[in-house]
Amino acid sequence: MGFFDSLKRDNKQTPTVNNEEIAPVEQETAPSPQIQDPEEIEVHVREIEAPTIDPVPSKPLKTFKEKAPVQHVVGHTKIIAIINQKGGVGKSTTAINLGAALGEMGKQVLLVDLDPQGNASSGLGVDKSLIQQCIYDVLLNDVPLEEVIIPDISEGLDIAPATINLAGAEVELVSEMARENRLKDAVGGMRGRYDFILIDCPPSLGLLTVNALVAADKLLIPIQCEFYALEGVTKLLESMKRVKSRLNPTLDIYGILLTMYDSRTTLSKQVVDEVRDYFGRLVFSTPIPRTVKLSEAPSFGQPITQYDPKGRGSLSYIELAKEVIARG
Ligand SMILES: Nc1ncnc2c1ncn2[C@@H]1O[C@H](COP(=O)(O)OP(=O)(O)OP(=O)(O)O)[C@@H](O)[C@H]1O
Ligand SMILES: [Mg+2]
Repeated sequence: MGFFDSLKRDNKQTPTVNNEEIAPVEQETAPSPQIQDPEEIEVHVREIEAPTIDPVPSKPLKTFKEKAPVQHVVGHTKIIAIINQKGGVGKSTTAINLGAALGEMGKQVLLVDLDPQGNASSGLGVDKSLIQQCIYDVLLNDVPLEEVIIPDISEGLDIAPATINLAGAEVELVSEMARENRLKDAVGGMRGRYDFILIDCPPSLGLLTVNALVAADKLLIPIQCEFYALEGVTKLLESMKRVKSRLNPTLDIYGILLTMYDSRTTLSKQVVDEVRDYFGRLVFSTPIPRTVKLSEAPSFGQPITQYDPKGRGSLSYIELAKEVIARG
């Protein structure tokens, strides 16, 4: 299946379903046992008791004033939005782990969590219940970005966290003046203080994403190695072109990142070929493999470079960081 088939699929109508054609599905699960005796009930309850999970110790929240001194002169700041309106393609995983890898390689990095789900924040061990102000307050309450930044969440990495409050921003921004420029104004003030500012975008093309498109110098688009990989990419590229022509003339694609690559499947290889055919040299040569460790790390509040430093996931994000530094 070629890219243009994917485009056609983007525009296809949702098929109408005739209820009469749907055959009843036979129940496959075993019926639950009939329990009469209260004692027996207790035994069953004990059997299914949830496993205890040790809570992730929350990292102490420092303020920007307590940030460790920067060891090098920061040159030109590159603002990169990690973007794809398709959900679950590895945006937050990439924001966390690319950010941490760059930080460990001596760069100063700010991760801006622009997703109300706050996955990048919790994945780095930020206890959202302790946060009083988040990126929402920067966008809507004129709070300076510095006041919400938690410095040194990992080596060389600071984060501007998101909480669920940010969910309101999508609606509240609509009636605001200069609503598309809010993030640009905020992160623009940080140029010269970081080598990289990474923006973790939400899975939509709403006003938050438009803010990221206006604020960013370049886009990093993660594409998951699975069927329908390119679904929605045309819409994203259209949004990019619209913002480029009206609000951010220098906006361009920085790189395409293949994620959740499984070398054992022909599907993964087909997707890699198809994406490379279409995007050519824009595709990073490092694909990120699908590994259990990468999916486990966020629940320990650690980037993969700390959780499993020698594993394939960690090594691939370090390789990606090298490519990013080389691209400049
Ligand atoms: N390379 C990988 N190997 C295994 N699991 C992965 C990998 N990358 C991401 N995941 C897992 O896949 C899920 C989706 O990843 P992630 O949250 O990074 O995607 P996302 O694009 O940010 O999602 P959303 O659109 O909801 O913000 C998560 O559970 C994550 O742990
Ligand atoms: Mg995410």
